[in-house]
Amino acid sequence: MSRALLAVCVALVAAVGEPLSVPPHEEVARMARFVVSKCDWASMATISTHDPVKGQPFSNAFSISDGPVGNGTGTPYMYLTHMEISVQDLQASLSVSLAQTSYCRNHGFDPQSPLCAHIILSGSVMEVNGSEASLAKAALFSRHPEMIDWPTDHNWFFAKMNITQVWVLDYFGGVKTVTPEDYYRATPYRKHGSDSQ
Ligand SMILES: *[C@@H]1O[C@H](CO)[C@@H](O)[C@H](O)[C@H]1NC(C)=O
Ligand SMILES: *[C@@H]1O[C@H](CO)[C@@H](O)[C@H](O)[C@H]1NC(C)=O
Ligand SMILES: *[C@@H]1O[C@H](CO)[C@@H](O)[C@H](O)[C@H]1NC(C)=O
Repeated sequence: MSRALLAVCVALVAAVGEPLSVPPHEEVARMARFVVSKCDWASMATISTHDPVKGQPFSNAFSISDGPVGNGTGTPYMYLTHMEISVQDLQASLSVSLAQTSYCRNHGFDPQSPLCAHIILSGSVMEVNGSEASLAKAALFSRHPEMIDWPTDHNWFFAKMNITQVWVLDYFGGVKTVTPEDYYRATPYRKHGSDSQ
């Protein structure tokens, strides 16, 4: 009886753990694209411009989207207000992790374990406009529908992370770096019948 119950539990855990097919850890650029496209939010650290922590690191959670689900661009877009952050070529560090999905919990990987892949993007936050703002709007509003109703008097604007370096922790042996070029060349999902990218 309890053995049967255990078998059912194991089967359930396997079923729940299955849907996220994570790229092989050695494909670090693909892994970075995969985790960024999976995450709806990120921790972002900037250098504070506010007393009493002026000049010190300051980290906060932000909603992000790199595109509609299954069609990520690799660029994390954000919907920000000047009340919250003063953006003009603002240096930033943004991190996302598979701990934000059910993957690590289902596999028993601690969030700090390198097996629970986490990605750090270095760069700057930049306001976007024109057609890129339209892209950012579609990316964000499709994954964060509540944003449509955020109060207009907050002067929201669309922004992106201008990535200058990608750091990947997805296996033992230390952090690996990926250039923005390799990051954007990779595809988060393996394409059917082709692996040229
Ligand atoms: C992905 O985005 C491209 C370009 O924006 C678009 O042409 C394509 O239809 C999208 N595919 C899906 C599955 O949404
Ligand atoms: C769009 O953004 C670029 C760079 O951030 C800026 O140079 C340009 O003047 C902006 N255009 C408009 C219409 O705001
Ligand atoms: C992104 O940042 C790099 C390095 O600071 C800079 O050279 C580049 O012009 C920025 N990209 C855009 C679109 O402004």
